[in-house]
Amino acid sequence: MKKINIAIDGPVGCGKSVTAKLLAKKLNYKFLDTGLMYRAIGFYLNKLNIDINKVKPEDLKNIDIKFNENNKIILNNTLIENNILKTDECGKWASDYGTNKYVREFLSKKQKEIVNEKSYVAEGRDIGSVVIPDAELKIYLDADILIRAKRRLEDAKKKGENYNLKEMLKIVEQRDYNDKNRDISPLIKCSDAILIDTSYITIEEQVDKLYELAIKAINT
Ligand code: DC
Repeated sequence: MKKINIAIDGPVGCGKSVTAKLLAKKLNYKFLDTGLMYRAIGFYLNKLNIDINKVKPEDLKNIDIKFNENNKIILNNTLIENNILKTDECGKWASDYGTNKYVREFLSKKQKEIVNEKSYVAEGRDIGSVVIPDAELKIYLDADILIRAKRRLEDAKKKGENYNLKEMLKIVEQRDYNDKNRDISPLIKCSDAILIDTSYITIEEQVDKLYELAIKAINT
């Protein structure tokens, strides 16, 4: 059977991660969460107190970042648990440091190497535009901003983070602004990406829709 790569992009709270993970499982493909890599680098650079605008290639050259067999990040031989990386604070560092040219070059190079063997479902903000511009299937997931904020609020509650809807809406608006307006590889819907609005569909319906599109792409 033909091996393809599937690129999934979209803003915060559109359901990319869970959809991509389930789709990969259903197809027996590998899953690449590029946001987790940005989160790990954001976590690391913030810890070192490096100014977002002053990150230099030297700051990155000794970083070894990879995934283990459970899709957990290993940074310089140390496992960083998802509960550390998946906080909204870490998401903000990821988004902020992700505006830096050297950070983007460093991570997109690594991501390109990973997906080179094909059979990947990769999700992020620049997958269709930069990481896998030749992906056989490109999807752009989107949803109403209020619905996305409500989803994030539910996620935050489960993690024990206390926000109200107004605060979460502000976080989501800020993240959208950052991700869509940065100078280098901003979040965009590629002209050859299929737009799916997830506002009023369930995760199962999302996965089924993408699975159908993936099978079609594999068979053409
Ligand atoms: O998908 P996520 O919420 O884990 O991503 C966190 C941030 O990382 C996101 O707001 C912007 C940045 N990011 C990016 O710039 N490019 C990617 N391919 C993935 C994430």
